[in-house]
Amino acid sequence: MIQTLKKAIEKRLGSDEFEVKIENSLERGHLSTNAAFVLAEKENLAPLQAAEELRSSLHQNAPGDFFDRIEVGGGGFLNIWLSKEAIQGQLAKIAKAGSGWARVKGRKKEAVIIEYSSPNIAKPMHIGHLRSTIIGDAIANVFEFLGYKTVRWNYIGDWGTQFGKLIVAYKRWGNKGKVRKNPIEELDKLYVRFHQELKEHPELEAEGREEFHKLEQGNKGNRKLWRWFKKESLKEFGKIYNRLGINFSVHVGEAYYEKDLTGIIDLLKEEKVVYESEGALIADLERFGLPPAMVRKSDGSTLYLTRDIASLKHRIKEYDPKKILYVVANEQALHFSQLFALAKSTDLAEGAAMPELTHVKFGLVRGETGKKFSSREGTGIKLEELLSRAVELAKQALVERDVSFKKDEMKEVSETVGIGAVKYNDLSQNRLSDIVFDWDKMLSFDGNSGPYLQYTYARLRSILKKARRVPKLDLSTLESESDQALVLKLAEFPDVLERVRRSYMPSYLASYLHELAKQVNSYYHSEPVLYSEPSLRALRLNLVKSTAITLRNGLRLLGIKTIERM
Ligand code: ARG
Repeated sequence: MIQTLKKAIEKRLGSDEFEVKIENSLERGHLSTNAAFVLAEKENLAPLQAAEELRSSLHQNAPGDFFDRIEVGGGGFLNIWLSKEAIQGQLAKIAKAGSGWARVKGRKKEAVIIEYSSPNIAKPMHIGHLRSTIIGDAIANVFEFLGYKTVRWNYIGDWGTQFGKLIVAYKRWGNKGKVRKNPIEELDKLYVRFHQELKEHPELEAEGREEFHKLEQGNKGNRKLWRWFKKESLKEFGKIYNRLGINFSVHVGEAYYEKDLTGIIDLLKEEKVVYESEGALIADLERFGLPPAMVRKSDGSTLYLTRDIASLKHRIKEYDPKKILYVVANEQALHFSQLFALAKSTDLAEGAAMPELTHVKFGLVRGETGKKFSSREGTGIKLEELLSRAVELAKQALVERDVSFKKDEMKEVSETVGIGAVKYNDLSQNRLSDIVFDWDKMLSFDGNSGPYLQYTYARLRSILKKARRVPKLDLSTLESESDQALVLKLAEFPDVLERVRRSYMPSYLASYLHELAKQVNSYYHSEPVLYSEPSLRALRLNLVKSTAITLRNGLRLLGIKTIERM
């Protein structure tokens, strides 16, 4: 319904740079829009005149019985009352779609690569990777729901000079048994020790370079170590992905591009994108307003950036994507600006269309005290412990609420609530800002939290269970303001998803679900559902069902599971 209106506005405006809002009070209409101001600006009209013009064009561009009336109010805002038939038709459509509500059927041909998580082997996955994982997964889910071919890519950090250092450390101070037992922790310790010892023994630096060189040359022993480190790391990461319910379609990391790097360097040279300076190869990016970028060091080794160029080329060739999204922390903004600038300077697509490249950035995680929340430094906790703590706190909260669960059930429910709380906490905040890790707020059952949404869903399910059966929808009773308002809120769902798709901001979906939950909670507190007369009961049960479906689907898109009873 909102999209019908938007299309009608767009037809007159020739642009989608306007807003349509659901009004809280019918006095200002069901919906309002600022589109007349945009039109006024564009065609140099007085706002009121633009509003009048838009109003008459809307009557022409929308289906005949769509509006009840449109008024020009507040200096040029349009207030729109939809007809009863339009709202009825909308509810009929939602109810008919059932669990397919807002899902786009018919696959689009366009592929979108969403790269997220991308942790580094031999190091613990840290909280930044957790954010990337949660945000990337949500964005990929939305694209998939909207019919895109999605490629979910985990670009593992498994190559680079640091592995030379790690091999030195392992050979000098490592203990096989210990590493076997606790791979990531031990390897991380060894890496830290390397840097400590380096202060006293600067010669270690050269040794590290030498070991990496050997690794690159295919030295058997070093390869074997590297493969072992990688295998153990992936096993650990897998545990976290399992808990979070994350799946990837591609697991190709940096090392994969080793064989392509000479070719990339040659290409950059050929296209005169780089120049030599004291043995190193540098790209001058001044025309992009960026500092120069190094693509090969003077000792001949390549860099993180070089591998990203190679990977980009491969991504284009293999998937011909329309877009590539890199879901990576703000801190790497310069890196991606340089990568994208290099992509503009070089023919990486070999004549094919260059995809749109976006760095989908996000901020840091702060603890309640405002300090950077680090799972690497002593100030934070390990990611697995963090998840376990969320689950433990969820369990406590559930026990306090006195819902009786069987033991197995309790375990499953607290896992779902705890993990859901962590995800929602992240996704409900603007990804660009630093977010706060506030355990109380995260696990509260009545704030803007995951548990609140899961709880609301469970409440709706319990109403539906009590009804036993949802009767056939009866539209004739769709009269009252609160019934209509709920239909309008449900009608907003496709539009919200579209907004998430365009902005890569899952927080729009989170706020929408929170608003919907609040609305439906007060709805069933003030309007009898189960005990209204039969035709109203039929209407309201259908509304409750559609709301439950929308909440469940919305939460699933955020990667959050629902519970039938809590
Ligand atoms: N492995 C990197 C890190 O942990 C993130 C990789 C980001 N993706 C990329 N294409 N560079 O910092």
